[in-house]
Amino acid sequence: MQGEIKTSKKPVIFSGIQPSGRLTVGNYIGSLRNFKLLEDNYNSLYCVVDMHAITVRQDPTELRRNISELAALYLAVGLDPNKNILYCQSHVPAHAELAWVLNCFTYMGELQRMTQYKDKSAKHVDNINAGLFTYPVLMAADILLYQTDVVPVGADQKQHLEIARDIAVRFNNIYGDVLVVPEPYIPKLGAKILSLKDPLRKMSKSDPEDTFIGMLDSPDMIRKKMKRAVTDSDARIKYDPENKPGVSNLMSILSILTGRGIDAIEADYAGKGYGVLKAEAAEACIEALAPIQAEHKRWMADQAELNRVLKDGAERASRIAARTMAKVRKKVGLAPLF
Ligand code: TYM
Repeated sequence: MQGEIKTSKKPVIFSGIQPSGRLTVGNYIGSLRNFKLLEDNYNSLYCVVDMHAITVRQDPTELRRNISELAALYLAVGLDPNKNILYCQSHVPAHAELAWVLNCFTYMGELQRMTQYKDKSAKHVDNINAGLFTYPVLMAADILLYQTDVVPVGADQKQHLEIARDIAVRFNNIYGDVLVVPEPYIPKLGAKILSLKDPLRKMSKSDPEDTFIGMLDSPDMIRKKMKRAVTDSDARIKYDPENKPGVSNLMSILSILTGRGIDAIEADYAGKGYGVLKAEAAEACIEALAPIQAEHKRWMADQAELNRVLKDGAERASRIAARTMAKVRKKVGLAPLF
């Protein structure tokens, strides 16, 4: 078996995505794309965080489908299952086990300050459950279980990373150097891709269809959605995220997906209308997503192989997780295993 973390000195990456809907170009640009770019220099674990997804009510059939789709997307962006550990969170019970221990080292006040908790509890008023509240502790457990050095995420996860670091430092202050304190990896450009309809909010897979470009959207859908993207009435193509968030968002998407610098885009589009920018941003998405969509289709048609990859990933992840759990159990004084 290749890619075993214990035999290599490369730093460790952990990241996860919730299987809670169709992935957007925001997820792609803010996280998934970077996973592939970082593949060679790290020992990486990429997780389908299905236990996080059930903090809001899910239809079980749809959730199972979303889990498969997301696992297939990890593979479709080109992540090599031998170089990386690809698996589902609920297949490795140590995530839940460590989360419980860390719950006992996390303060209510810290969790009450989490903006995602505040947003989600405002959105799901009929289901403000304890899992939603302790969500960041499970996320801390995901990361700390693997002695992770670097966590590639979009800007919206920064606060969760900070609490994971605080929990690790607090634990280490009591028990010695048990847990590695992780660093976030947040891209400079594209850390927060914005909604096409309300460019003051992030693009989100749980928002209405016309607000995001889905990674599996057809070319026609992409063109249609881009055409209707909200811009402004100023009619100048200029990168100014504060005053021109809609236009700057389209420029960021175009820049990241084509590799052209923002300055070059500004110069090339001087005097041109927003229609041209929207059309080219749409074509850039279509071109970037086409090979991923083709690979995704191939993986979805081979569920047996997909399951084999996830099973192998879960076994490899479990072995690493067991080492951290053994240390944590001993340090905290839980009953020794026989
Ligand atoms: P999730 O599933 O909401 O999003 C997955 C990743 O996509 C990034 N992202 C974005 N980046 C740029 N622009 C956007 N509009 C955008 N929307 C989403 C997110 O920042 C994230 O990196 N709590 C996490 C999942 C998680 C996790 C972890 C991540 C659970 N355990 C451990 C890292 C490490 C979440 O809900 O991401």
